[in-house]
Amino acid sequence: MPLDWISVGSHCLRLKLAVRLHWPVRRRPAPLTQQVGVASEPIDTFLSGLHTVDMYGSGDRGFFDLVAPLYDLAMPGARVEPLTSGVDRATRPIERIIDLGGGTGRAAGAIRTANSDHDPLVIDATSEMLTKARDRSLDAVAGDAGRLPVDSGAVDAAIIVDAFHHFPERLRALKETARVLRPGGVLVIREFDPGHPLGSLLAVGERVIGMNSLLVRPATLTDELEQAGFQAEILDRGFGYTVAATLPEM
Ligand SMILES: C[S@@+](CC[C@H](N)C(=O)[O-])C[C@H]1O[C@@H](n2cnc3c(N)ncnc32)[C@H](O)[C@@H]1O
Repeated sequence: MPLDWISVGSHCLRLKLAVRLHWPVRRRPAPLTQQVGVASEPIDTFLSGLHTVDMYGSGDRGFFDLVAPLYDLAMPGARVEPLTSGVDRATRPIERIIDLGGGTGRAAGAIRTANSDHDPLVIDATSEMLTKARDRSLDAVAGDAGRLPVDSGAVDAAIIVDAFHHFPERLRALKETARVLRPGGVLVIREFDPGHPLGSLLAVGERVIGMNSLLVRPATLTDELEQAGFQAEILDRGFGYTVAATLPEM
């Protein structure tokens, strides 16, 4: 059944219930997937870029499909402060946020908990991770960060948490994010620093278990962001670091 009919049906049901129970009818905004013009993207279009090891396929998707059921149990909760302070760097009001490589919605869920006005859309390449994000009642769609299924200039902020080092086409993903952001919008990336002792262990560890990830120092990431048209700023450093990158106003 087309999505529109499902949505019309659900609105009618709400209306009938509200009239019967004398409840006020509250208009809900259109789902974020409609607001940002999400088109479905066949998963087969994911391409390999920098990959040298291909044990789990592009973006290490095979690995994340395997671990998705246990992922949230194994991972600590996402740190929301660096994300919200990064999002605050935007020079425009923030209504629509996308979480790229958002997986099970660990970070998107934390943002929604911190600010109930924000309900990020999760975009990820791995179907089992997306299933978990939907279990959290987050909107979640399959998509490759290198070819986002989102209209140009449709979003105000994007976050990428612990995922950028898995993206096979890094610069392409940054340019795509610049395309879908509105001027004054912001991209916040949380990554691990291979120059930190724990970061170098992680970099080696991921390779040892067959992942094709690529961790880079904060300065390298800011260079890549500037090549993609952003103005980038390192917000914090350590094993994990945060970079906020704004898209200049026209
Ligand atoms: C370590 S998980 C991080 C998930 C989430 N951001 C978090 O912090 O829990 C990395 C995620 O990146 C996704 N990913 C890898 N390559 C991708 C690509 N090209 N486009 C979108 N997602 C991708 C994987 O499917 C996986 O869910």
